[in-house]
Amino acid sequence: MSSVNTAIQLSVRGASKESTCGTDLAKGPWEFDLSAALEGVPSYGPGASLADQAPSSTPQQIQIPQQYKDASEQELDERILAAKATLGDRVVILGHFYQRDEVIKYADFVGDSFQLANAAKSKPEAEAIVFCGVHFMAETADMLSGPEQAVILPNLAAGCSMADMADIESVEACWAQLEEIYGDMTATDAEGKVPVIPVTYMNSSAALKGFCGEHGGIVCTSSNAKTVLEWAFQRGQRVLFFPDQHLGRNTAKAMGVPLEQMPMWSPRKPWGGTSLETLQDARVILWHGFCSVHRRFSVAQIDQARAEYPGVRVIVHPECPMPVVDAADESGSTDYIVKAIQAAPAGTTFAIGTEINLVNRLAEEYPQHTIFCLDPVICPCSTMYRIHPGYLAWVLESLVQKTVVNQIRVPENVAVPARVALERMLAAKP
Ligand code: 13P
Ligand code: SF4
Repeated sequence: MSSVNTAIQLSVRGASKESTCGTDLAKGPWEFDLSAALEGVPSYGPGASLADQAPSSTPQQIQIPQQYKDASEQELDERILAAKATLGDRVVILGHFYQRDEVIKYADFVGDSFQLANAAKSKPEAEAIVFCGVHFMAETADMLSGPEQAVILPNLAAGCSMADMADIESVEACWAQLEEIYGDMTATDAEGKVPVIPVTYMNSSAALKGFCGEHGGIVCTSSNAKTVLEWAFQRGQRVLFFPDQHLGRNTAKAMGVPLEQMPMWSPRKPWGGTSLETLQDARVILWHGFCSVHRRFSVAQIDQARAEYPGVRVIVHPECPMPVVDAADESGSTDYIVKAIQAAPAGTTFAIGTEINLVNRLAEEYPQHTIFCLDPVICPCSTMYRIHPGYLAWVLESLVQKTVVNQIRVPENVAVPARVALERMLAAKP
């Protein structure tokens, strides 16, 4: 099977019948970064996140030397391998499951965001951690790795559009309004519970993790969201969950929280666009955020998969909308999906609702099964896709020259409370 990049190139050249959500994805990321800059609108480039505007605080990637843009795939391959060999144990390369094949092949560890955060801790001897994922993952790695270690994101424009849907100013403004309704946020009721516990998904800026650390809150990932919500309900009357409404809704619904007690908070609207009465009665206040990749999955796609493959096992990520999770057989994190496929008897057919690079890789690694993506359109996480091998060669060769480029550094005043929220998550037990 060809890589996602090859499939996109073929589709754009008209050499295959497959279609892609963004023809610009076939270009080098330096080309679409440049066109966005020329238009003066910060954007996430082509693909799934096309409609999402990047906030002005999103780091801007500088133009890298022309030689990296002009180099052939083979030349980049040789240069990356040579730089890696020269650096040896001085560098560790981490790759997220959604990373493209042309880059993931150089990774020393491949995993989900939680596993990679742990991997960052496990190599204290490496002076540099090159994170082939997105910005919030690199921030987390920086907070959990040693103070002397440099965490590098090869393309600074590899953000996460969902993470950017909740910024610290909007969350603080929301908190201030909630304080007007619920009163002193540190006062406990007869059961010893405070009015609201803030819970942030791992897919959020370090500033939001810090906010949670400072306000009695916690971080969750898609693999421990239920455990974390239980932790929060032991300590609070309700939860403010950001930025992913879908993960929050799907998890709380499975725990028995009625939908009418899960209002949505739209930032920049008075009372978040909801009413005082609804907020009084709320159990989970959901932030109006979503993932552009997972939002594409639909019940119609599931119906079609079931019609074409009777007995198909449908597994979707909990970032998918609730009707999709309800129509699937199972939902779970990327790690859950990988383990479910590993454990299945040979000959199982899977329709998967998550990012295409992971789905295609699983199809290749487990030829004893039939595995396909529910979305017929080739639509990668377009921000992670910005980590082109040219950027990887540039950061590694810079390290060989003893120069650290694209370092992700979380200031200590943010990192200290953010680590509190992360450590609460690590200590929370099911
Ligand atoms: P994981 O936490 O499973 O790595 O997922 C990250 C992500 O961005 C999902 O869209
Ligand atoms: Fe963010 Fe969605 Fe990409 Fe995950 S898949 S990193 S949530 S944009």
